[in-house]
Amino acid sequence: MTGKGSSGEQLDRKFVVAIDGPAGAGKSTIALHLARRFGLLNLETGAMYRALALKALRAGTSLDDPSALKCLADDTVICLEPGEDENRVLLDGEDVTGQIRNQMVTDAASRVSVFPPIRAAMVRRQQEMGAKGGVVMEGRDIGTVVFPDAEVKIFLDAAPEVRGMRRYDQIGQQGRSPQQPEEVIRDLRARDERDRNRADSPLKPAPDAILLDSTNLTLEEVVRAAETTVAAWLAQAKTTS
Ligand code: DC
Repeated sequence: MTGKGSSGEQLDRKFVVAIDGPAGAGKSTIALHLARRFGLLNLETGAMYRALALKALRAGTSLDDPSALKCLADDTVICLEPGEDENRVLLDGEDVTGQIRNQMVTDAASRVSVFPPIRAAMVRRQQEMGAKGGVVMEGRDIGTVVFPDAEVKIFLDAAPEVRGMRRYDQIGQQGRSPQQPEEVIRDLRARDERDRNRADSPLKPAPDAILLDSTNLTLEEVVRAAETTVAAWLAQAKTTS
């Protein structure tokens, strides 16, 4: 994979785009657009925490026991394969893509991700996957911990009510369990709380990240702003390479 996109931007050097932000901020959608536009590999790191959480739930492992979770993680192989709309997620070789987005796994993923040994294992794997560059990687700690030297860093945010309503609409479109909007917003706030306040790698913008608040923006406007950010970096890199 090279840093060559459909619009003809080219750069010999392979680069990393880090996208961080809270749940429901639109990271996956923006990452997918950037991947297509700039010819990058799209890697959703949240899917890795979700896959491990699914394994823990299946195994009956306590979500509050870091040692047991670490043993489980050491015995687990999680692979992300880029797909048309989302990553295909392989858990020990089994395709679990369709099983990791329900509320139980969502909550469990947020809980297992607070433990440093789990994070260390995931971060190592993510660094391996992105080592060759040419990737857009999204998560909570990509610009701060996984790739602190990423060439482009975007922190996507939006008001919790707006993110909650977007998530509610998304769940409805997928025909999944009928939660009330208030419940979706409440769950999202609980995850925000855990993601932002955990001791290890809390969710926060890297000092050099571009902040993009989509509260009052349409999807097209956010996509355009993100594309402009990457294109500006590419233009500047070409003049200095
Ligand atoms: O992005 P997501 O909703 O699929 O992520 C699921 C959980 O995984 C989220 O609650 C926090 C955690 N996560 C993380 O701690 N670090 C990442 N880089 C990605 C996700």
